Parts: sequence; structure tokens; C-alpha cells
Amino acid sequence: MQIFSHIYPLKTTLMDWRSKNQIIALVPTMGGLHRAHLALVEAAQKKADRVVVSIFVNPMQFAAHEDFDTYPRSIQADLAALEALKVDIAFIPDAGEIYPSNESLNQAKFKKKYQKNTYLFEILCGRTRPHFFYGVLQVVQRLFEIVAPDVAVFGQKDYQQLKIIQKFTQGVEIISVAVVRENDGLAISTRNQYLNASERMLAPQLYKTLSQLLRDELDKQSAIGQLQHHFKLDYLQVLDADTLSEIDDNSSKIAILCAVFLGKNRLIDNIVFRR
Ligand code: PAJ
Repeated sequence: MQIFSHIYPLKTTLMDWRSKNQIIALVPTMGGLHRAHLALVEAAQKKADRVVVSIFVNPMQFAAHEDFDTYPRSIQADLAALEALKVDIAFIPDAGEIYPSNESLNQAKFKKKYQKNTYLFEILCGRTRPHFFYGVLQVVQRLFEIVAPDVAVFGQKDYQQLKIIQKFTQGVEIISVAVVRENDGLAISTRNQYLNASERMLAPQLYKTLSQLLRDELDKQSAIGQLQHHFKLDYLQVLDADTLSEIDDNSSKIAILCAVFLGKNRLIDNIVFRR
């Protein structure tokens, strides 16, 4: 596995592959790699000849009060896991490579481009994290510009993120991987390591409730009541899975989407199903 932190040597290798008509996949991550990230890598390897995994804790998607400084960083273990999977390139840029100018660090300017299209950025998680999806889209577009992959792989755990990337990026085939879960149903997340023992015991109640709603064992109001029993509810919504707007006669897929607070932690989860 080659490890690059600078763009130019990375591009030389990418150009060599491209000259041989090899298909290149990118798996963007913020590190703290776990089993779900590795499932994305395996999906990328099925689709492409070469796989690039980026590890970059993106400052633009953290608000000042959020956990940028303490976000789990485990670069040696991450590299060992990627090496074991025979990933071709780990790209670990400094912030200066991704955001070379003050202008690129100006979210207001980036946001302006989407001012007629704010809906997907502002609903659901965008209500509590208004900066978040703009920061995600900005870094994903930048990574696409640098790597110019044929394919990029994202997880359905971050369903709203996936929808925004599908809608607002061009020229790269976006592949998605189903939510990867612990045995008790909890969606795997780098931030799950913040949970203390009693929070970790409660956390699977989120997926349990969404599953009961899916199976019609609970209606939405009872599901809300059950979630509020264990958590502070941020939102529970049942929407058209393609547009994330209200369900109508044309909706062929439905998404149950939820976010809750558990102590200082915020958990998100979703279930998407065919109607
Ligand atoms: P990160 O949280 O590191 O996640 C990287 C990728 O792994 C995302 O596509 C995410 O949806 C996927 N993923 C994480 N946990 C998952 C799970 N349990 N099941 C399925 N997929 C899962 O998401 C980000 O980083 C960043 O926002 C990023 C896209 C890299 C931009 O900075």
C-alpha cells in the first residue's frame, strides 16, 4: 500500500493507473476505522481495479462546539487495517492540501452556491447541525477533484449525507453500502466509543424501536414515546427515501430516519424499505 499526504505524488500514481484504463474507486473516511468502513472498502474492491481510501478529519464539518479536537484518531491501526485488506493507496492529507486558501475555508461562500437548493441541507440532521452537510459536500467535492475517481463508496448509515452527495456531485458513480450493525443492532460508528457502559446498554433501543415501527408493531406516536423513554429525541421522520420529502403516491421507497441524544452523544440511524 502506498501512503500519500501530498496531492502531486498521489496524482502521478493515479495518472499511471488511468493510462492503463484501470477503474479507480475512492472511499472517503475520517479515520477511526471500524468494520463498517472496511465493508465500504470491500464494496469498492468489487467495483474497481484500484482503491484509494482517504483519511481526513474535516474541520469544515465540525461546529466550534463540536468534537473536532477529540475526534478519535487511530492512524497506525487504520493503516494496518487498510494494508491487511490490500488497499492500493491511503491518502492522508493535511488541511492545507484540502483547503489551500482562506477562501476555501469560507463556508458562507460555499453555501451561496446552494442557496436555491437548501432543503436537503436544512432538514433532519441539518436542523441541529446547520454547518454540517455543507462541510461534508465541500470536502467530498474537493476529494473528487483531487482523485477524480470513477466510483466512490458511501454508507447508508449517514443517509442524508448520501442523498446530498448523490444529488450535488457529478461525474462519479456513487455506490452505497447498507448499514453495518453490532450484534445487538446498534449501527457501528466511530463515535460509539464515547458511550459509557450504561449508555452503550441503552443505545440498541434506537434500532429496536425503528424496527418495531417498520413491522407496524408500533405507530409513530408510540415509537416517539418509546424513544423519549430512553433518549432525548431529536427527530423521528418517515419520508420518501429518494427525495427525503413527504411520502406521496409516487414514493417507491420509504426511509424511517431518526436522531436521538444519549448523554452528550448523538446517535443517528435509519431503515429504508420498498413500499
Ligand atoms: P466517516 O464517519 O468516517 O464515515 C466514512 C464512511 O463510512 C461514510 O460513507 C459513512 O456513511 C460510512 N459508515 C460509517 N459507519 C457506517 C455503518 N455503520 N454502516 C455503513 N456505513 C457506515 O462520513 C464521514 O466519515 C464523513 O462525513 C466523510 C464522508 C468522510 C466526509 O468528511
